[in-house]
Amino acid sequence: MRNTRFLLAAGLSTAIPYVVGTSQPQSRDVSPDPYSCSNIVIDIVNQTDIDFYASCSDFSEDILFFIDHNFTGPFELPKIKSVPEISSGYLGPDLSGSDRIDDGVTSVSMPDLVNVTSGGVLFGYIKNLTSISFPNLSLITKDFVIFGDTQLSNVSLPSLEFVTGGVLLNGELDNISLPKLKSVAYMRVESTGSLDCVALGKSLFSLVFTPGKYDMYAGFTCWTGHAGNSYNSSDSTSTPASTTSTPSNSASMTSGTSTSPDSSTKTNGGIILQVRFLELLLCFATMVFLAAF
Ligand SMILES: *[C@@H]1O[C@H](CO)[C@@H](O)[C@H](O)[C@H]1NC(C)=O
Ligand SMILES: *[C@@H]1O[C@H](CO)[C@@H](O)[C@H](O)[C@H]1NC(C)=O
Ligand SMILES: *[C@@H]1O[C@H](CO)[C@@H](O)[C@H](O)[C@H]1NC(C)=O
Ligand SMILES: *[C@@H]1O[C@H](CO)[C@@H](O)[C@H](O)[C@H]1NC(C)=O
Ligand SMILES: *[C@@H]1O[C@H](CO)[C@@H](O)[C@H](O)[C@H]1NC(C)=O
Ligand SMILES: *[C@@H]1O[C@H](CO)[C@@H](O)[C@H](O)[C@H]1NC(C)=O
Ligand SMILES: *[C@@H]1O[C@H](CO)[C@@H](O)[C@H](O)[C@H]1NC(C)=O
Ligand SMILES: *[C@@H]1O[C@H](CO)[C@@H](O)[C@H](O)[C@H]1NC(C)=O
Repeated sequence: MRNTRFLLAAGLSTAIPYVVGTSQPQSRDVSPDPYSCSNIVIDIVNQTDIDFYASCSDFSEDILFFIDHNFTGPFELPKIKSVPEISSGYLGPDLSGSDRIDDGVTSVSMPDLVNVTSGGVLFGYIKNLTSISFPNLSLITKDFVIFGDTQLSNVSLPSLEFVTGGVLLNGELDNISLPKLKSVAYMRVESTGSLDCVALGKSLFSLVFTPGKYDMYAGFTCWTGHAGNSYNSSDSTSTPASTTSTPSNSASMTSGTSTSPDSSTKTNGGIILQVRFLELLLCFATMVFLAAF
């Protein structure tokens, strides 16, 4: 059995500087063997790393799995069907005086991935990221966050059905396609691109919300900054006919779905640390906003 305290320490020494981006202490000494499928911190720097980790048939749920800031070019990791989490980039914009390394990843593709099992998906402030591809991804446990990736205009996850946490999509987005999405804790979309919020709202009219205890938001909202191009599932005036203004948590959830609500109350420190990034990110966004005044 893995020592939780050790795991938390590992999480603290890597995840926080990693996401905040104040320095580069991505020390590997928590992983005695540089290449092992049972490493608790999997930090992919180059193709050699990808080639090794593609051979792992399984990963423990309690690990950090991320694309290093130093990784450059296309990231393609085949064969893996399940990972605890995927993250890349930062939780906030580069503030002046920061010594951080801008992420060099240009595309992320995991063609065989089906489940994200514990810590969510984050792609934040990656300047050169132009596409993400997860054609078979069906379940994201915890949050799904795309934030501040200025060249990423399309988000298409054709198999995604369940997100147990929040979905936050922000950027110059033109197209969002989530045709199979059935349930999320909540969903918030903010786009400066040519996204059609009304069409997206209509396509997601039967989305079921499974709010978590600590969620800051509810329902599905979409903004573009243009009047007439927004959507709010909680506001009956902007909601297309046939939806209810207060979706029930369980109305159309069929039994036997793969979401497990009690996973959100898991108290493992490492998990809490990594998975609350949506809230952390919003907190940073607020700080940056306030600092601008
Ligand atoms: C790839 O990165 C690993 C560390 O993750 C490093 O040990 C190795 O030397 C790198 N390989 C190449 C070819 O750069
Ligand atoms: C990333 O690159 C920087 C500068 O090139 C280097 O100092 C740092 O050790 C690298 N980090 C990793 C994890 O390879
Ligand atoms: C991003 O792309 C630009 C233009 O191709 C390139 O000059 C820059 O080095 C890239 N940034 C990183 C961090 O790789
Ligand atoms: C994706 O899933 C479909 C069935 O749902 C399967 O036929 C296909 O081979 C999978 N693709 C990959 C790349 O695993
Ligand atoms: C975005 O998706 C649309 C339709 O799927 C496509 O026409 C367009 O070329 C895509 N844009 C990019 C930058 O991939
Ligand atoms: C992608 O967005 C563009 C611009 O909003 C739109 O014209 C196009 O129909 C969209 N494509 C898809 C596949 O939704
Ligand atoms: C959505 O509508 C509800 C009910 O009118 C309102 O309380 C909420 O603030 C709205 N959300 C946004 C983001 O505008
Ligand atoms: C994905 O998760 C579902 C629900 O937990 C499970 O039934 C399925 O076997 C998992 N698939 C893989 C490839 O791990």
